[in-house]
Amino acid sequence: MDNKYEILRILRESDASVSGQELSERIGISRTAVWKHIRSLEEEGYGIEAVNRKGYRLVGVPDSIAAREVGSRLTTHRMGRDIRYFSRIDSTNQYAKRIAEEDQDSGKGEAAADGTLVIADEQTAGKGRSGRHWVTPPKEAIAFTLILRPQLAPEKISMVTLVMGLSVVNAIRSLYGLDAGIKWPNDAVANGRKLCGILTEMSAEIGAVHYIVIGVGINANLTWFPEEIRSIATSLKLELGRDVNRAELIAAVMEEFERLYTMFEESGSLRSLKEEYNAVCLNKDRPVRVLDPHGEYTGISRGIDDSGALLVEREGGAVQAVSSGEVSVRGIYGYV
Ligand code: BTN
Repeated sequence: MDNKYEILRILRESDASVSGQELSERIGISRTAVWKHIRSLEEEGYGIEAVNRKGYRLVGVPDSIAAREVGSRLTTHRMGRDIRYFSRIDSTNQYAKRIAEEDQDSGKGEAAADGTLVIADEQTAGKGRSGRHWVTPPKEAIAFTLILRPQLAPEKISMVTLVMGLSVVNAIRSLYGLDAGIKWPNDAVANGRKLCGILTEMSAEIGAVHYIVIGVGINANLTWFPEEIRSIATSLKLELGRDVNRAELIAAVMEEFERLYTMFEESGSLRSLKEEYNAVCLNKDRPVRVLDPHGEYTGISRGIDDSGALLVEREGGAVQAVSSGEVSVRGIYGYV
């Protein structure tokens, strides 16, 4: 890891100040090199208090989601080991697909590796599901895309999106104590309004997946939404009444995703995650309307099965397994 990253990590993990001597010994660089890295961090906007004789203390971090800010918080082994940050980009999914095919930006010309994370502060052509536009205003939203190269059959990929949805909800609940839940299959929701959307795209042939890109858009510090989504959208800032640190949240989602995805890979199904998912699934035991192209119907949702399909109990007691790729589900009384 970059030595500057390492200094940042040590300062962040320590409540007390850390001496230049200790930093130089722990990292194995000279005290002059430590001092230069500290100066460079200050130039990037970090507040570092130099306490006489005692050393350095981190007193402020910029609200940045640059690679260093996110990377220095990660302890993952697979997810986000390579981070590409852009202050502005068309769409992180579009860029991720380009480098998953051929990574000219790396200088090596190889395709981007499994676990590569693309982050942007602003998207000029953010994509939502069903061809919709996704708003990503600069400095307020979170937009990132994770590239994976799963050894899975194409029909199992929709389950990975549910794993990401659960990771986002778990990260939000544990960081902020907010009572967030999932609207099946993968929207993170608070107080009946959408906080996060996920768009997974894949490149595959019959029987084999080349790569997938999982794009995550979280309404972090937004306070304004376009008219057409105003009644169904919310943000963490609106729910919590304060700004959230976006880098901290991205890192927490990556940590959680690595944990849950490992469990998912072991069984190739959602068997071991089903209970955890259903515990936060807002549709569970509630009436839903299934928008099936062959005919709409209503029923009571009973949570997901091992494949991520939503089990809907119809009048008369028959249970229908609804797959996320085929149909969408609405609440009877509102968005959830
Ligand atoms: C939805 O419609 O609910 C899915 C929205 C997904 C938005 C994210 S933001 C990061 C990534 N890049 C995109 O262009 N879209 C996804």
